[in-house]
Amino acid sequence: MTDIRKIAVTTGGGDCPGLNAVIRAVTRTAINDYGWEVVGIEDGFNGLLEDEIRLMDLNPDSVRGILPRGGTILGSTNRGHPFEFPVKQSDGSVVIEDRSDLLVKRMSQHGIDALVVIGGDGTQAIGQRLREKGLRIVGVPKTIDNDLNSTDYTFGFDTACNIVAESLDRLHTTAHSHDRAMFLEVMGRHAGWIALHGGLAGGAHAILLPEIPYDVNNIVNKIRERQARGRTYSIVVVAEGARPVGGEMAKRLSPFTGKVQLGGAAERVAVEVANKIDLEVRVTSLGHIQRGGTPSHFDRVLGTRYGYHAVKLLGEGKYGRLCVLRGLSIEDVDIKEAIGAEKLVTPDGQIIRAARSIGVSFG
Ligand code: F6P
Repeated sequence: MTDIRKIAVTTGGGDCPGLNAVIRAVTRTAINDYGWEVVGIEDGFNGLLEDEIRLMDLNPDSVRGILPRGGTILGSTNRGHPFEFPVKQSDGSVVIEDRSDLLVKRMSQHGIDALVVIGGDGTQAIGQRLREKGLRIVGVPKTIDNDLNSTDYTFGFDTACNIVAESLDRLHTTAHSHDRAMFLEVMGRHAGWIALHGGLAGGAHAILLPEIPYDVNNIVNKIRERQARGRTYSIVVVAEGARPVGGEMAKRLSPFTGKVQLGGAAERVAVEVANKIDLEVRVTSLGHIQRGGTPSHFDRVLGTRYGYHAVKLLGEGKYGRLCVLRGLSIEDVDIKEAIGAEKLVTPDGQIIRAARSIGVSFG
C-alpha cells in the first residue's frame, strides 16, 4: 500500500521522440491502476521555479492523441536547473539562485507526493539531488544520444537513427548521380552511437566517431579504393564529436547563445579530404531534424514500457530508481549508477567489428 495520491511528471533537457509516449503511459497507469491524480510540470522544472506556477492537468483526455507526436506536450528546457536557477536582474545581469527549497515547498503546496523525472544525464543528476532533499523520485532515461549509463537503449535513439538512415538513402542518390563524396554530420555529443547505428543502417562507406580518432589519409584511401573499383561516389557519416588522431572535437561559438558548442566536424574533415581527392565534395548537417517528428514504433513501445514501470516503482515505494532496458527486459537501477559517466561506443566491440568486415572504414 502507498500513501501517494498525486504525482507529477517533468521532461527536462533537449526534446526527444517518445517523450509523449512516456507521459501518456505514466498518466494512464497512475489513473487506471492506482486512481492517482497526475500533473505535468511545464518546461522542465521551470513550471515550479518561476513566479508563475505552470502545472498541466494530465488525464485520459489531455493525453489522447499524443502518442505519434514528437517533442513533449509539457515543453522542455536546458535552463531549468532548480539548484542553479538563472535570475535576470534589472540591470540585465544574471544571478544564479538555488531554488530547490522553493521547488520542494511548491510540490507540497500542490499536494504532489512523488515525481517522475524524464530526462538525460543532466536531468537525472538533478533528480538525484532532489532525492537527497527527500523527494520521492523515479527516473526515465531519455536522449537521442543513447549515452546514458546502465541502459541498453534510451528512447529517442531509434527514431534518430531511422532519420539518419533515411537521410543517407537520399544522399546516396545525389552522390551517385553527381559522382560526389558526401559528408553527413549527425548529433550524439561525445558518443558515436547515432553515427554508428544510423551510418550502418544507411550504408555509409566511412563513419567517424569520437571514440575512434580518424586519420584523414584513411578516409582518402577508402574513397580512392572505391573509385578504383568503379564506385565513383562515397558517403561519410561524421559524428559531431569526431576528432582527428591527436586532435580535439570541433567546437564553435553559437551566434545565438554566445556559448561554445559542438559543430563543424564534418566540414573540417571534408575540406581536408577535398584537397586530396578528385571528386566533388558536399557537406550536410542534419541538426535538429534528427531529433524531431513522430517516434518510431520502437520508441513508442519503449517509452510506454518505461512510463508504466516508473509508476509501478512509485506504487511499490521504490524511490531513487531509474528505469533501464536490459536486453528485452525493463529493469531499474539506482539513479546514482546511471549518472556522471557517459556510455560510449566500444572501439573493438561487436558492431564495429561487423562493420569493418563488411567494408566500412572508421578513418
Ligand atoms: O543531447 C541531445 C542533443 O541533441 C545532442 O545530440 C546535441 O549535441 C545537443 O542535444 C544539441 O542541443 P541543443 O538543442 O541545445 O542545440
